[in-house]
Amino acid sequence: MAAVLPTRRDNPFDPPPELADEERPLRRLAFPDGHTGWLVTGHALARAVLADVRFSNRLELRRQVVRRTETDAIRAGRPAPPGMFIGMDPPHDTRYRRLLTGQFTVRRMNRLRPRVEQIVGEHLDAMEQAGPPVDLVSAFALPIPSLVICELLGVPYADRERFQHDSAVLLSLGATVEAANAALASLTGYLAALVERKREEPADDLLSGLIEGGELTGDELTGIALLLVAGHETTANMLGLGTFALLTHPDQADALRSGRVDEDAAVEELLRWLSVIQFGTTRTAAEDVELGGELIRAGESVAISLPAANRDPERFAAPGTLDLGTDAHGHLAFGHGVHQCLGQQLARIEMRVAYGALFRRFPTLRLAVRPEEVPVRDDMSIYGVHSLPVEW
Ligand code: HEM
Repeated sequence: MAAVLPTRRDNPFDPPPELADEERPLRRLAFPDGHTGWLVTGHALARAVLADVRFSNRLELRRQVVRRTETDAIRAGRPAPPGMFIGMDPPHDTRYRRLLTGQFTVRRMNRLRPRVEQIVGEHLDAMEQAGPPVDLVSAFALPIPSLVICELLGVPYADRERFQHDSAVLLSLGATVEAANAALASLTGYLAALVERKREEPADDLLSGLIEGGELTGDELTGIALLLVAGHETTANMLGLGTFALLTHPDQADALRSGRVDEDAAVEELLRWLSVIQFGTTRTAAEDVELGGELIRAGESVAISLPAANRDPERFAAPGTLDLGTDAHGHLAFGHGVHQCLGQQLARIEMRVAYGALFRRFPTLRLAVRPEEVPVRDDMSIYGVHSLPVEW
């Protein structure tokens, strides 16, 4: 039986080796609070769990499922705060999703594309001016999605140091409960004050639009504004780790730069192969459920490893190979079911614009350190690279 979710990787791109066990797509797993639950590594079972609302996402049912980062709310079995719909089941989360999905449609996100192109162009200019070497994470991968989500929500980008620090603590697997509580309180306090300011001075942004709609309380709006965390760390890590992957697979980078592969399909393959959400997709059985020939008992945690599911040989022909020309559709990098990623169209546009523009602007882009010197985020629930020194 695996003892808590493994994090150590043999190389920067493959999931921890203990997870690659296709003989057992469902196995027992010891959780940090001492209870024994389940780990799903197979694609079909991962989809089945994520699609089945008997596997609940309600925060109040959660046990301590990842490491020490859970906040007091989880320890005390408290429900998710208002607006934080990732920790709710239908019908509660449906109301929030209904209000938000209209803001995140493919059409609306496509309209943002010119602005994303502009932001990407400005960051490439700044990199060019600074000259090599630069850290691609702080110069490109983090600021682009951060700026985009700030503009979309209506959060002042100038405040980024504060919220980037808090969200980094919340996503760290090693943070103490006290540190995680403090970071959540600080972030919530910041966003609550922002919501109040927006009431006084509305602007053309998502939060102002939701305030104007009049359906949501201040607390609900604050919970929703936590989108800020989901909206920048995720895409930022795809951009950082994806660039690292392309730099160490020059044939794939060439195919992308020269237009030999379709940019949209390339992004899907990078999403599948890299699967940056390495922890956090965990559910609790709300009742006894049969799954894959096993009986999952009410109250047991079920951790779904998206990186492992996206490398399942039963589902993908050559799962371990990065091949931008392959058909990666059906991957689970954005999850599946009622909690499937709300921001996926936005993330796709950012990645489609950013990878291509980066590799075309700097055709000789290369690592400025040896690959084994790149610090990977095996200490964070969102995998990626802490920094990526590059030159050209
Ligand atoms: C490449 C970037 C991204 C990846 C890989 C990603 C991945 C995911 C995954 C796997 C889930 C499901 C979690 C679960 O079922 O437990 C999810 C949910 C979510 N994502 Fe993303 N995400 C990305 C970008 C974004 C962006 C840009 C936003 C915001 C604009 C966003 C907002 C959300 C929200 C709000 C949820 C919760 C949805 C719900 O519970 O109904 N994500 N994401």
